[in-house]
Amino acid sequence: MNAETFLYDESFSPEPKTLMMFYKRLREIDVPEMMSSIIAETAGKPWEYYQDMTRQLWDEARHAMMGEVGFVNLGIDWPSEVMVNHTWSLALNTQLSPKERHAVLYFIEQGLMPKTGKRFEWEVGLESNNPLSGLFQDYDWADEVLHSRIGRDWYVPDFNSPKEAIDYGDECWSRVLMDWNQYRDEGKTEHRNWWPGLYTAACKNWRIEPNPDVLKYSTSYESVRADLKTISASG
Ligand SMILES: [Fe+2]
Ligand SMILES: [Fe+2]
Repeated sequence: MNAETFLYDESFSPEPKTLMMFYKRLREIDVPEMMSSIIAETAGKPWEYYQDMTRQLWDEARHAMMGEVGFVNLGIDWPSEVMVNHTWSLALNTQLSPKERHAVLYFIEQGLMPKTGKRFEWEVGLESNNPLSGLFQDYDWADEVLHSRIGRDWYVPDFNSPKEAIDYGDECWSRVLMDWNQYRDEGKTEHRNWWPGLYTAACKNWRIEPNPDVLKYSTSYESVRADLKTISASG
């Protein structure tokens, strides 16, 4: 499911958006999967590099746990209602070098800092009737500020300018091939739309009738990328 097109659609209210944000957090389990290999395959850096990168790896794992807790708090059986996968880390780990993976991570994280990124998610959490969502997005935003600093300290200095560093990340990411049509043809995924089931389960907990417009949401990442560029992240 495309969480971003739903999140930035003003016609939807904050409550169902908290579900998309818990999903965005939960699927961050993919980030430590690609960060651990960067750390393990990068030799000869100062101790502080490994300390900072390991802190960030732990943050990303914790972000995934925040998503899990958000669903459990709503009484939702997330392993059956929410589909997360590891195709992003699989593709990055097998197609890019550690430095190229760090570039992609930095590029994605830079895109999270404008007003439409982490701040927006925190505001949606506050506007919702779910106090955990606001709290988790507060942690998520604060951690992201630290992750930007870690990127500036350990990734950007290899380039002549911050812009060059970001452009390189964009270029590395565009090189990664993730063809879910092929995964489906090989029988590895049904690529099913799980949103109606998740939303219906949440509505049960909220004791409300599902809103038909929310229920029929079905945009995937086939045509719109997570940064809303048209084609096909989370840090
Ligand atoms: Fe994160
Ligand atoms: Fe991050």
